[in-house]
Amino acid sequence: MTTKPSLLITRRLPSSVIARLEAACDIDLYTGESAIPRDELLSRVRGKQALMCLLTDRIDGELLDAGRGLKIVADIAVGYNNIDVAAARARGIVVTNTPDVLTESVADFTWALILGLTRRISEGERVVRSGTWKGWALDFMLGSDVRGKQLGLVGMGRIARAVAARAPAFGMRVAYADDQVAGVAGAEQMSLDRLLTTSDVVSLHVPLIDSTRHLIDKRALARMKRSAWLINTARGPVVDEAALAWALGQHLLAGAALDVYENEPAVHPDLLAMDNVLLVPHLGSATTETRTAMADLAASNVLAVLAGKAPVTPVP
Ligand code: GLV
Repeated sequence: MTTKPSLLITRRLPSSVIARLEAACDIDLYTGESAIPRDELLSRVRGKQALMCLLTDRIDGELLDAGRGLKIVADIAVGYNNIDVAAARARGIVVTNTPDVLTESVADFTWALILGLTRRISEGERVVRSGTWKGWALDFMLGSDVRGKQLGLVGMGRIARAVAARAPAFGMRVAYADDQVAGVAGAEQMSLDRLLTTSDVVSLHVPLIDSTRHLIDKRALARMKRSAWLINTARGPVVDEAALAWALGQHLLAGAALDVYENEPAVHPDLLAMDNVLLVPHLGSATTETRTAMADLAASNVLAVLAGKAPVTPVP
């Protein structure tokens, strides 16, 4: 009897995905309600040939040494800042992520945040639920139209392009700042500084790497229009959260919608107290269809590599 390769999965997955994997692997599934504790991850990765993990799992040299037999680390996320890719490459371990399958869902969600923030949806809901609503009034809870205004995209990768593609439906013109991407139809390329000083909505779509950590700091926030809104569906540390709380307190911008945070699940306490800040718990790709597709793609990567084939979506 040949033994199957062993696979550690750090969180429950849709049963259809588990069924696909079960045919080829011995699965060790962590079933806890929150992220697998570090010591448990370190001990359970020992002797495994494959690891399917989440953005909440830190995959560094220490972990990869514990998992010396690993052939693949398959992240179920498009952003892979949780993985030390160089350390994996140095050990001959393939790293994969889940691009494309989440692009449209995250773009939809970005627009939900843009409209939710500018039209004060969660603020209004709080009023209704609190029982303090006095009824319709001409000047009650006025928001801002986005029509005729500029949407500034920081980063012009797949998700930003999908966000841009939706802009004509809302009457927004699109600007973007991205040194790597030239000539996007229907969007004006500009420097980050010009984008910050001219945009009415600034939406972040860069990966978290050294050069983007705290890209939006005090200085950048001070360059934004006082009437502008900031949206972050990328990674929390792209924004200096303390600086954002300070800038909002100084009324240097109109408000912010955040899906991601510097130290998830913690949120800067000052932001929690502000009505012009829309806060959601890292839900950008969170639809049943998309999360299933992400898990399925990660499974395809594991199955390919364990079968000696090229991975479907290796990280660049
Ligand atoms: C989610 O944040 C992802 O990177 O997929």
